[in-house]
Amino acid sequence: MAQRDLILLGPPGAGKGTHADYLMAHMSYAHLSTGDLLRAAVAKDSDLGKQAQGYMEAGELVPDDLVIDLVAERMEQLDCQMHFLLDGFPRTTAQAEALAGMLETLNREQPLVMNLAVSDAEVVRRLSGRRMCLDCGTIYNVHRDGLDIGDKCPQCGGELYRRSDDEPEAIRNRLKVYEQDSAPLIEYYQQRGQLVAVDAEQGQQQVSAELAELAQGRRPC
Ligand code: AP5
Repeated sequence: MAQRDLILLGPPGAGKGTHADYLMAHMSYAHLSTGDLLRAAVAKDSDLGKQAQGYMEAGELVPDDLVIDLVAERMEQLDCQMHFLLDGFPRTTAQAEALAGMLETLNREQPLVMNLAVSDAEVVRRLSGRRMCLDCGTIYNVHRDGLDIGDKCPQCGGELYRRSDDEPEAIRNRLKVYEQDSAPLIEYYQQRGQLVAVDAEQGQQQVSAELAELAQGRRPC
C-alpha cells in the first residue's frame, strides 16, 4: 500500500504533535495542526485569535464554522503534490464531513486515520508535565526529559513554557469534551474502513516507529 494522507486522532496528550514531528522528520508531509494554527492566531491577536482564545483556555472546542474556514483556507496554501498530515482536525462529525468534501473537491483519496489510544490517567500525567519551546515549538516532558521552565530548549536555546490549557481544570474539561464530541469519530471512521488503532501508551519511540510503518504501508492496517 502506498503512502496516503493521514489523520492523527486521539485525546489531548495522546502524542499527536509529538508523532507528527517524528513523521515529518522521517517522511515527506504537508502538516496541518489546527491547535498550532489557532495558537498562532491568538499570539497575533487576530480576529480569529480573539474569538478562539476563551474557548481554548477553557478547554472547549472552537466553533466548527471558524475551524472549518481556517482549514479550508490553509489547505489552499498546502502543496497539493505532498501528502497531508492532519493533527487535531477533524474533532467533530461536522468537521469530518466538511473534510471529506474538501478532499473530494481536490480529487484526493480519503485519508488513513490513526487513532492514538491512551488512558485518562496517562493523559493527566503527560499534560501536567508537558513543556514547550516558545521559539521552535519542540515538545518536552519533565517526567521524561527533566527539563522545566527556566531551562533552555536543547534544540534552539529558546524559552520553555507551559500551555495555558495544561492547567488541571482545563485538562479535565478537554477530556470531557473529547469523550463527548471527538470520540464518536472513532466509530465514524471505523464504519468507513479508514481507521487503524494504535496503542499510544507504549514508549514514544515504539509508537513513532509503529506509526511510520503504518504510514509507509509496510504494515497491514
Ligand atoms: P490541540 O493543540 O490540538 O490540543 P489537543 O488535541 O488537546 O492535543 P495536545 O496538543 O494537548 O496533545 P497531543 O496529542 O498533541 O500530545 P503531545 O504530542 O503534545 O488543541 C488545543 C485547543 O485548540 C483545543 O482544546 C481547542 O480549544 C482548539 N482546537 C484545536 N483543534 C480544534 C478543532 N479541530 N476544532 C475545535 N477546536 C480546536 O504530547 C503530550 C505530552 O506527552 C508531551 O509532553 C510529550 O512529550 C509526551 N508524550 C507523547 N507521547 C508520549 C509517549 N508515548 N510516552 C510518554 N510521553 C509521551
